[in-house]
Amino acid sequence: MAEPVRVAIVGCGFFARNHLFSWKDLAADGVELVAVCDIDPAKAKAAAEEFGVPHWYGNVDEMLDKEEIDLIDIITRMDTHRMMVEKTVGRGIATIVQKPFAPTWDDAVAMTRMAEKAGVWLAVHENFRFQTPLLKAAATVGSGIIGAPTWGRISFRTGFDVYRTQPYFHNEERLIILDLGVHTLDMARVMIGEVEHVYAEIQTRNPKNRGEDTATVTLRHVSGAVSVVDFSYDSRKQPDFFPETLMEIEGPNGAIVVEPGLTMRVNVGDQIREEDIGAPLLHWTAKPWHVAQESVLTTCRHLLEAYKAGRPADISAVDNLKTFAIAEAAYESAATGRAVKPKTYG
Ligand SMILES: NC(=O)c1ccc[n+]([C@@H]2O[C@H](COP(=O)([O-])OP(=O)(O)OC[C@H]3O[C@@H](n4cnc5c(N)ncnc54)[C@H](O)[C@@H]3O)[C@@H](O)[C@H]2O)c1
Repeated sequence: MAEPVRVAIVGCGFFARNHLFSWKDLAADGVELVAVCDIDPAKAKAAAEEFGVPHWYGNVDEMLDKEEIDLIDIITRMDTHRMMVEKTVGRGIATIVQKPFAPTWDDAVAMTRMAEKAGVWLAVHENFRFQTPLLKAAATVGSGIIGAPTWGRISFRTGFDVYRTQPYFHNEERLIILDLGVHTLDMARVMIGEVEHVYAEIQTRNPKNRGEDTATVTLRHVSGAVSVVDFSYDSRKQPDFFPETLMEIEGPNGAIVVEPGLTMRVNVGDQIREEDIGAPLLHWTAKPWHVAQESVLTTCRHLLEAYKAGRPADISAVDNLKTFAIAEAAYESAATGRAVKPKTYG
């Protein structure tokens, strides 16, 4: 039998539970959850007890000194990612870091460059493209049934109280483009391809927020296609379909539309078909978060398979920089009122 893959987690906060359940579910695929760590030792201890993890730590250096770790999953907030990655990649440990990759382009590039130089596997947990509904929509676009996309809209608008579980949002200087936009802009790349230039308008509609909570981004893709990616944490629209990502993609032969309630409507010419593309409920997921929660398992499974095969993940650091560059270009465009070309790495 193959050796187990020894996984450790850093950060046992709000979102880490989904990772803990996912890695536990992947035991049958060879994952052994060996240790968890949080700077708040009570959180690390509680996670270890609940998920049956043999060791817990309140200090990441101590965990790295004492444990044999193959794959480390960093689920702290973005301001700690670079410091963590420098430690883990510095020790040659394959590393996954939650999105957003970093607070700035320079930090994201520094981590990527360090991993490339050291020949260490580094990936970003970008999970929207692994949501079951969006995987199905992407496969349908990829099948070529409507031809090469010429126009698209990707939309995530909600008034759901995201601040209850993530109160730190109020204080973020750069809020929704880095938090949610990285997901929806990534979907634009997955569905329509790489981006030539970006034009963005941002708004801060909730007075309690320091940063932008609404963004409307227009992308010109390298193929010549155009898309609008719009997202808000301050929408008053009812019904509220949180956390669904809606989209419409047009091509020369037809259109693919992901509608509220996660129904996909595909038309080729005047032939229309509808398909339910909802996410399955797992033993640990609950509505309405299940759409997002289930994607953590599918993302971790993809990351594990790529790691075991010794190939970069589809969501490698190098790939995520392409999405991060679009997010950075959106901020620059909003600040200058001009269209901006995304930076390139390499
Ligand atoms: N992909 C998604 O769908 C999704 C959804 C929600 C959150 N997230 C991301 O997950 C990450 C964590 O978000 P959260 O809401 O769980 O935050 P959180 O604040 O609830 O949890 C972060 C945890 O990290 C711990 N921590 C901080 N510094 C540490 C250090 N030096 N060593 C060890 N532990 C440390 C904190 O004590 C805390 O328990 C963020 O990057 C966020 O953007 C992703």
